[in-house]
Amino acid sequence: MNQPILRVKNVFKSFHVGSMDVSVLKGVSFDVNEKDFLVLFGSSGCGKSTLLHTILGLEAPTSGHISFMGRSLYEGMTDDELCDFRKRHIGMVYQQPNWIRSLSVVENVAFPLALLGEDKRVASEHALQALRLVGMLEWTSYAPMDLSSGQQQRVALARAIVTDPDVIIADEPTGNLDYESGQELMELLRSLNEKADKTVIMVTHDLEYLGFAKTAIRMFDGTIMSSYDEDSREELISKLRTKSGQMEERVSVVKNRRVTSETERT
Ligand SMILES: Nc1ncnc2c1ncn2[C@@H]1O[C@H](COP(=O)(O)OP(=O)(O)OP(=O)(O)O)[C@@H](O)[C@H]1O
Ligand SMILES: [Mg+2]
Repeated sequence: MNQPILRVKNVFKSFHVGSMDVSVLKGVSFDVNEKDFLVLFGSSGCGKSTLLHTILGLEAPTSGHISFMGRSLYEGMTDDELCDFRKRHIGMVYQQPNWIRSLSVVENVAFPLALLGEDKRVASEHALQALRLVGMLEWTSYAPMDLSSGQQQRVALARAIVTDPDVIIADEPTGNLDYESGQELMELLRSLNEKADKTVIMVTHDLEYLGFAKTAIRMFDGTIMSSYDEDSREELISKLRTKSGQMEERVSVVKNRRVTSETERT
């Protein structure tokens, strides 16, 4: 049985906006096991990215507890330790890759190793290996901005894995990609999960990608509305294949929205 690599316990997060406290995460709890491929989905604004930021150690929760690989993220770690922990154990992929424009593809991919103080030649070798894995070895001397969006996301994935992290966290990595490039990126994530044993935590709007997940969580308005294991995820996918199933799912989200706003009014 796999051990939880990540434990999120009763996490609340609110932001001060003007004179108001806006509550974004409202008691989120879940575990992610080693080698899981977790897809987090839910409508825009429900708190998915905020949750990822708390998991990444970038945004302390207002209350609650997060532990990663047995280490409590916000208690007993200095900011520098937290930053070092993130660089060594987590690879990030965002919707937009954010390149250092003065550096080539291979130099951008090697950059996280340079930040860890790795020797330049060794960093470059690792970068080439990562680029080979994502099928981008022919493009090493390009400027990243000269590549297509799909190619850029492959390179972004190479940069995320160059440090050999335990976990890959991806926030809508296919958000700007066409269908084919999106599928290719998902296949790469699947192969990193299955062949290289990387735990993957991915946020998406696109329910199509549930097929790549092992487990899934649907968020709604700062809470977890439902969790799916491998069996129930299959049921959800079959349901979404039919028009009536899609409609039923939409109705359940709308109903939940109504119940939440009624609860908030009382
Ligand atoms: N730093 C912040 N200050 C104030 N409000 C914030 C901050 N960060 C996020 N929020 C608010 O929290 C809510 C959730 O935002 P978040 O980005 O987590 O949503 P999301 O589920 O990732 O949405 P999307 O699918 O559109 O990316 C939004 O209403 C947003 O305005
Ligand atoms: Mg988001």
